[in-house]
Amino acid sequence: MSLLEVTRLAKFYPAGNRLFARSGESIRAVDGVSFTLERGETLGLVGESGCGKSTLGRLVLCLEEPTAGKIILAGQDITRLPDNQMRKLRRKMQIIFQDSYSSLNPRQTVGSIISEPMENYRVASKQGIRLKVEEMLATVGLEPDIASLYPHEFSGGQRQRINIARALALRPEIVVCDEPVSSLDVSIQAQILNLLKELKQSLGLSYIFISHDLAAVSYISDRVAVMYMGKLVEVLSCRDLEKKARHPYTRALLAAVPRAEPRRRAQVAVRGEAPDPLNPPTGCRFHPRCPIAAEKCRTEEPLLSGTIHLVACHFALGEDHSHGVALGGYNRSKLR
Ligand SMILES: Nc1ncnc2c1ncn2[C@@H]1O[C@H](COP(=O)(O)OP(=O)(O)O)[C@@H](O)[C@H]1O
Ligand code: SF4
Ligand SMILES: [Mg+2]
Repeated sequence: MSLLEVTRLAKFYPAGNRLFARSGESIRAVDGVSFTLERGETLGLVGESGCGKSTLGRLVLCLEEPTAGKIILAGQDITRLPDNQMRKLRRKMQIIFQDSYSSLNPRQTVGSIISEPMENYRVASKQGIRLKVEEMLATVGLEPDIASLYPHEFSGGQRQRINIARALALRPEIVVCDEPVSSLDVSIQAQILNLLKELKQSLGLSYIFISHDLAAVSYISDRVAVMYMGKLVEVLSCRDLEKKARHPYTRALLAAVPRAEPRRRAQVAVRGEAPDPLNPPTGCRFHPRCPIAAEKCRTEEPLLSGTIHLVACHFALGEDHSHGVALGGYNRSKLR
């Protein structure tokens, strides 16, 4: 049994006061997404900004109610739980955000930030929680005596360690990491990614790792799910990513990862503008930007299909890349 099983999950937001929106229109932020997360796995979720990654992350953690679809955690349907059960569940699922500063209350000491979730759930006595705070700080590579300091006294990387300590204090089973290293220096990014990797092993965690940065995703993940305009277009093992990716969008993302200049890699360069989410293209949503689009692509939506390697494309590229889409390799050693 998979730890997490998500079926046709959807979230539509009313377009509301968006410019040029007609009344009653909605943004299909997540539009029929299905995937599984295995115990101990890191599933990477990658795609351009606005494609629905964070919304999907929040849905999975039950922080938002889905418009449709189902979420099964260890065999239990958790899609719409009563409040008291939801509270128990929240302990098992935590999130780490990108901006490590705004997610930490500047007026709270580090010790009180990390102990707060444990106090809420009364996991131990006051003294017990104090010891646990020290233990968590050590776990994330910080000195125990910093518990009395405030967030502004730390660097971005250290603040992200504090965030990680808080998220892991309750010993969750699933952690959604939403762009956890995107605002950090490249050298620091590698440290935090390595820390997350180690903690996954030692604490037996499972991650959904969200980023617009394919290099970071492929460094930490076991499998990668590629998202485009609210839908998954390809899911494959990270090992196969460079050589066997078959969706033209995945290949374009790969080609956009610069080899020599990791500092500039935040700019995802896929040909053409991302389309308006209020007016998604007909057929395959990627067709206006796809180098191999054909008539069928404008009218028929390709479904995500396959068994282990899933792809949603009428003309999925052969694994030998005979269609000539350039593959830009990248240097993983930069991240080590
Ligand atoms: N609370 C919300 N209300 C209305 N629209 C939203 C809300 N949250 C996200 N969206 C829209 O949903 C789409 C997906 O957003 P998001 O999940 O944040 O994407 P990503 O994390 O991939 O950048 C975007 O078009 C965004 O503007
Ligand atoms: S279905 Fe057509 S437009 Fe969509 S990715 Fe495949 S080839 Fe390109
Ligand atoms: Mg986001």
